[in-house]
Amino acid sequence: TTILVLNGPNLGRLGSREPEVYGSETLADIEAQLGASVPAEVSIDLRQTDDEAELIGWIHEAVDRRMPVVLNPAAFTHYSYALRDAAAQLKQAGVPLVEVHLSNPHTRETFRHTSVISGIATGVIAGFGADSYRLAVDWVVRNA
Ligand code: DQA
Repeated sequence: TTILVLNGPNLGRLGSREPEVYGSETLADIEAQLGASVPAEVSIDLRQTDDEAELIGWIHEAVDRRMPVVLNPAAFTHYSYALRDAAAQLKQAGVPLVEVHLSNPHTRETFRHTSVISGIATGVIAGFGADSYRLAVDWVVRNA
């Protein structure tokens, strides 16, 4: 099994971007941790883009190849109906989708309290820093 771990805009800046909110680990650190935490027959394909179209294309790929997705949609969480419509096809296909956030958006600005993704996600993990990804991947490994 390959688990797609998809990351939206500005997450390539992890490590230097607001470390008090997002932690000091980089996406490369997170990728290495995830790789070390999964069984040998599972592989982690971690990707990041600032581009909505590219992210949507990756979701379509996941639908077509039936690959479970761990998704940190970043700011797209709060307003991208296009990303939601793409991700709804995972639900339709019965492919797991775990929405993850490093921070807990509900403790932050009001605009972060809404997720247009959560309604079609299998589940949501938020507020545990890099461990949010680990918890999500662990669930996928045990259930997908
Ligand atoms: C985030 C939370 C979002 O509100 C924000 O736009 C991000 C990161 C998180 O992981 O905590 O870019 O998804």
